[in-house]
Amino acid sequence: MAGKPARKNALPAVDDLTEIEAAAELAHLAREIARHDQLYYAKDAPEISDADYDALRQRNAAIEERFPDLARNDSPNRRVGASPAAGFKKITHAVPMLSLDNAFSPEDVTEFVARVRRFLNLGADAPVEMMAEPKIDGLSISLRYEDGRFVSGATRGDGTTGENVTENLRTLDEIPDRLAGKGWPAVLEVRGEVYMSKREFRALNERQVAAGAKTFANPRNAAAGSLRQLDASVTASRRLRFFGYAWGEVSAPLGKTLVEARDNLARWGFTLNDGRLCGTVEDMLAFHRDLEAGRAGLDYDIDGVVYKVNRLDWVGRLGQVSRSPRWAIAHKFAAERAETVLEKIEIQVGRTGTLTPVAHLTPVTVGGVVVSRATLHNEDEIRRRDAREGDTVVIQRAGDVIPQVVEVVAAKRPKGAKPFVFPDHCPACGSLAVREEGEVAWRCTGGLICPAQAVERLKHFVSRDAFDIEGLGEKHVEGFWQDGLIKTPGDIFRLERHRAALLEREGWGAKSVDNLLAAIEGRKQVSLDRFIYALGIRQVGEATAKLLARTYHSLAAWRAAMGAAEDRASEAFGELTNIDGVGPSMADDILGFFAEPHNREVLDDLDALLDITDVSAPKTVQSPFTGKTVVFTGTLATLGRKEAKARAESLGAKVAGSVSSKTDYVVVGADAGSKAKKAAELGVTVLSEDEFLKMAESA
Ligand code: IVH
Repeated sequence: MAGKPARKNALPAVDDLTEIEAAAELAHLAREIARHDQLYYAKDAPEISDADYDALRQRNAAIEERFPDLARNDSPNRRVGASPAAGFKKITHAVPMLSLDNAFSPEDVTEFVARVRRFLNLGADAPVEMMAEPKIDGLSISLRYEDGRFVSGATRGDGTTGENVTENLRTLDEIPDRLAGKGWPAVLEVRGEVYMSKREFRALNERQVAAGAKTFANPRNAAAGSLRQLDASVTASRRLRFFGYAWGEVSAPLGKTLVEARDNLARWGFTLNDGRLCGTVEDMLAFHRDLEAGRAGLDYDIDGVVYKVNRLDWVGRLGQVSRSPRWAIAHKFAAERAETVLEKIEIQVGRTGTLTPVAHLTPVTVGGVVVSRATLHNEDEIRRRDAREGDTVVIQRAGDVIPQVVEVVAAKRPKGAKPFVFPDHCPACGSLAVREEGEVAWRCTGGLICPAQAVERLKHFVSRDAFDIEGLGEKHVEGFWQDGLIKTPGDIFRLERHRAALLEREGWGAKSVDNLLAAIEGRKQVSLDRFIYALGIRQVGEATAKLLARTYHSLAAWRAAMGAAEDRASEAFGELTNIDGVGPSMADDILGFFAEPHNREVLDDLDALLDITDVSAPKTVQSPFTGKTVVFTGTLATLGRKEAKARAESLGAKVAGSVSSKTDYVVVGADAGSKAKKAAELGVTVLSEDEFLKMAESA
């Protein structure tokens, strides 16, 4: 299909497009296709025929196939189901809807159970019962019942707010309008998956074909498209189904265990999928094996197994980390694999100089996505697999993970294929590359003179979790850098001076330039944690950036402290390494960043251009620990280290790794050593674990 003009009018052949034209057209197609989706799904008023619509999508796919790197995040190819229909009101979930961490191997599952035990401070062999349930591939929904009546239902949305699809949900047979039986809490939010059976999916597509309408790619898309209909009678005709598996806000507990809660939900009128209560990891894996083997025979799509801690008091203690619960994990079925040819191994230079080998592949479809590049990780990995250019390789895509080369098909090796020799010079700047002892990565020593590092740093700077500048994608950063429009991060905020030059660029018009400049202007105010993350200091990810921002509050204070911390004997250095989560090697990288005069210039420049907002301590309930620094030492009898830390942090405390004059409390367990002694010397309040728990409970 690639290269064939998709429409009869005078569009250039895909093979003739320049990269810039391709990027512009992909942006246009993303907007156009989204608009037609909206017209079709939400308004039921398509403006173009299905054939013309398909032609747009094919053109988009063909351009992406030729320029895989230009594929957009909002590519119509990546979007599942209909885009949110305008016209649905938003609902804020009383309790956020979480997502699940993934396990891909038996080892991951073993580690999950071990992690649960460690967190709960249980012995290595203590029994932990887990409920294993099929992981349904549909869309998650929250249903709210008040006094036994269904009052509202919403999609997951971004986890915090979803779309109000109450009226559509009322049409589902498996969603009771009134709760059955007795004993339900006055407020009950039931969560579960709306899905379409395979049989209904096939029948629906047949009806669509007969009516000359669009068919759906898979049951999940069909379910999503059918639920997000402004006209509930359309939803009603689609025979959607619902499995319950969790809950949100409840005014009274649903039981002591998940087994009890599931029984209750079933008594009150919900359909639950068959699960299995597992006593051991072996039981869990057996359920996974059984289900994977029987998967094709089920009348609905599943993509793995979810394991959940059965005891609900433990569930409460385990809580969540960022957006996923600690008490559950999704064990996915084997990743999809495909064979293709490794055409070339390219060495990419990252923003901190790491050289990463990337496999360029003959494009191949894996699990519905066209893959043309995969990671080869590092030199050792290439050597271990003896991957050579020209080899036939097996690639694997698991979930959202970057595709990987998992196998080299030795029998298909072409004659004369040569072993790959890892370069000892940076392909971007020619500087020497080194591989330090104990490290797997080669690193370019070019630092600031290396253009690849400079560009990668800029890409990171504008990326989603950093400055998040809409319209300034990676390709633009590269183009602007090459043309000298942006050399340093500060240049981004001076881009308006180059308005004329921007307008001259291919693919840019007055509107897109104005939009970009407005997006940049809108990002001149930034919180300190985002700012720190954007700097791209080695090892400083989002979590560390947050810790630093919370510790130092303002850019000025952070800079002053880092200046003082250059002296490793200083209190400032002590404070830095005392942040739980900042080890000595990370401290080295942070101080290394400040030691470089160019970096300090970049900071001066940005400080003058931006409004960097100070970060205050996270808002929490007022407690005896709010704003206090707590150190845990020794073996705690009931709390695991992580749980203790999580508990203290949830009460507004900062948890530090060592005792100093800034410590407010030291909580001592059994066999506490030097830290307890130091606390006594410094006159810091010492608490036993019991005392800590009592104070925590009174909060
Ligand atoms: S329990 C995270 N159980 O999988 C909150 N989730 O990939 C507890 N899912 O967002 C979820 N089947 O939409 C749970 N039996 C099951 C599930 C299930 C499908 C979905 C759910 C979740 C997603 C995470």
